[in-house]
Parts: sequence; structure tokens; C-alpha cells
Amino acid sequence: MKIFIDTADIAEIREAASLGLLDGVTTNPTLVAATGRPMRDVLAEICDLVDGPVSGEVLSTTHDEMLEEAHELAAIAPNIVVKIPLIAEGLRVVKELTAEGIRTNVTLCFSPIQALLAAKAGATYISPFVGRLDDVGHDGMDTVAQILEIYNNYEIDTEVLVASVRSPVHVLEALRLGADVATIPLKIIHQLIKHPLTDVGLKRFLEDAAKIPKGKR
Ligand code: E4P
Repeated sequence: MKIFIDTADIAEIREAASLGLLDGVTTNPTLVAATGRPMRDVLAEICDLVDGPVSGEVLSTTHDEMLEEAHELAAIAPNIVVKIPLIAEGLRVVKELTAEGIRTNVTLCFSPIQALLAAKAGATYISPFVGRLDDVGHDGMDTVAQILEIYNNYEIDTEVLVASVRSPVHVLEALRLGADVATIPLKIIHQLIKHPLTDVGLKRFLEDAAKIPKGKR
């Protein structure tokens, strides 16, 4: 499973890249707004740092405006993936961008049928938001399981990108289900690394290491 980081913060992207685990980046309007910088500048800087796919989202909702924005985003760098919301106008845009060879990430997916429609339009990635589904009493990972089942039944190539990840358990379940990608906030990446038994074990090793006579280590 590929690991993307879900952020527009350059320092966080640098940190994740230095850990050797970064396959790509996803951003959204909320994450870009938090940087206080223009979207184009942020995406261009991220694309300079990361070789893998970098998702940048359109900010409009009509066909013509989304298409124009998508072209502007795609022109930033070859590794840009244009993020399009899962609405009817968005699916039309995805179909046209796919025909042009521009990669898309269909976002704000909350049902397996929506995921099928995005795939039929030609989406490169589908982003089911598992955390937001959990928030309203649904089972986000069950939606991912159903999407994977449907895509498998019909040999669909669209990659399932598990989004709105809120805990290490989401990541473990995504791995067990065979999702293609999980996009993970830096805080959760740190939680994936950390284990209390690792910390206890290391503390004891360091205490014992201090008892080793100098010169005989
Ligand atoms: C995905 O691409 C979105 O940016 C993101 O995962 C949304 O997560 P949130 O529900 O924590 O805002």
C-alpha cells in the first residue's frame, strides 16, 4: 500500500519524506488555507519536493470553471493529480480530463455506488472519507471494503485511496483490505511508528549499556 501524507504544510512533508515512507501528497482547500499562502505557490513547492503524485483540488463547482482550474493545476507540474468533488458536474470534468490524459482524484466519496460512478468516469483515484463516515455513525472502513469488492468484481483499475484517516487502526484495516493508498496526517504517521514496548525496551537497553565497562563494548 502506498502512503501519502495529507497536508499542505511544507515542513510536515519534508519530515515525512525524511522518514523514507512518502509515496505522495494530498491537499484540500482547508489544508491549503491553513498555510496562508496561494494554492499555486504551495502546490509548486510540494511538487518540487516530492516525486510522487500530489493532489491539488479545484475550488469551483461548475463544469467550465472546474475544467479551466484543472488545466491550470495540471500545468503546475507533471506529478499533479487534479482533485475533483464527487458531484455530477465533477464526473463530467473527470471524463474529459481522463480523455486528455490528466490524472484525477475524485474526492468527498461516501458510498460504494459513488465510487463506481467515479471509476466509470475514469478517475485515477477514488477517495472515500472514512473518518467523516465514522463521525456520522457509519463504518468508514466497511465502505472501503465494499468499494474494493466492487472494483475487484468488475476489474476496475481506479485506485482506492483511503482518506480522512483518524487513527492507526484505519491504516491497519486499509492494509488488511488491500487498499491501494492511504493518505495520512503526520500526527498519525508518528503514532504508527511509536510503540510503548519499543520505548520501554530501548530505555532498559540504554540503562544496561551504561553498565558496560568502558573499552569493552
Ligand atoms: C483527503 O484527500 C482529504 O484531504 C482528507 O483526508 C480529509 O480528511 P479530514 O476528514 O480529516 O478533513
